[in-house]
Amino acid sequence: MSTNELQDKKALVTGATSGIGRAVAVKLAEAGATVYVTGRRAELGKETVELIEQAGGTGHFVVADVANIDDVRKLAEEVGEVDILVNNAGIFPFSSTPEQSLDSYEQVFDINVRASYFLTAALAPAMVARKKGAIVNVSSVAAQIGTPVGSVYNASKAAMDALTRSWAVEFGAAGVRVNSVAPGPIRTDMAVETVGEMFEAFSRSTPLTRAGEPEEIAEAVVFLASDKASYITGAVLTADGGLVAT
Ligand SMILES: NC(=O)c1ccc[n+]([C@@H]2O[C@H](COP(=O)([O-])OP(=O)(O)OC[C@H]3O[C@@H](n4cnc5c(N)ncnc54)[C@H](OP(=O)(O)O)[C@@H]3O)[C@@H](O)[C@H]2O)c1
Repeated sequence: MSTNELQDKKALVTGATSGIGRAVAVKLAEAGATVYVTGRRAELGKETVELIEQAGGTGHFVVADVANIDDVRKLAEEVGEVDILVNNAGIFPFSSTPEQSLDSYEQVFDINVRASYFLTAALAPAMVARKKGAIVNVSSVAAQIGTPVGSVYNASKAAMDALTRSWAVEFGAAGVRVNSVAPGPIRTDMAVETVGEMFEAFSRSTPLTRAGEPEEIAEAVVFLASDKASYITGAVLTADGGLVAT
């Protein structure tokens, strides 16, 4: 359903070629924002833009590999000032700690943390100058619970929640709000493939006894990005079917 609550806002969503990021991009556009969609897979990025247009919105795709710091800086330059930044791009290759490779360790932190850090560093100053803006980091309940083969991923998401709190304090006086959404098991291709057979069992173990849909996370992100959340900053909103309550 279209609303106008984000009319005249410009948003950038990373990792919007699929899954949660795509759903966030479409919902921000439905709420009236002009949405910049990014990721490596251009065909899928263009599909997201088409979905935005079918919903009556305006979208643009900018290709970027956020594992590459030069691409992160170019992305910020190309998109320019934004009102809303959603740091969503992420990978979750699982490994036990003894088997963790250095390459994969660095990749997780480069994509899940460093990219968001330097994108925020590049885009927050204009928000501060205009005295308004909202940043939403997509972290994970994995930041709040232990899992047997997710140590690096879990640590990367805990880092994002720590950045949410730091940035809320750093930019709050300038009216810039920063929050996390921490999803539980969400039915995206990547989650279902990575978690495999355990995905359904894990999802059923939540109090709501099911996996979440990407659109349910998008609703939480759009809320935090909108003026409805005007007094909320530094918060981690879990959208996890009650998982961390158990
Ligand atoms: N699904 C879940 O159960 C769940 C739970 C908690 C948290 N999360 C978090 O939600 C976010 C989205 O995950 P998802 O489940 O929606 O998975 P997904 O469909 O695989 O989405 C991941 C997105 O990140 C982008 N990405 C990955 N590596 C990139 C790179 N090097 N450069 C640019 N973009 C890159 C991908 O785009 P390209 O491949 O086109 O580059 C894709 O659009 C992640 O941060 C994940 O940790 C997911």
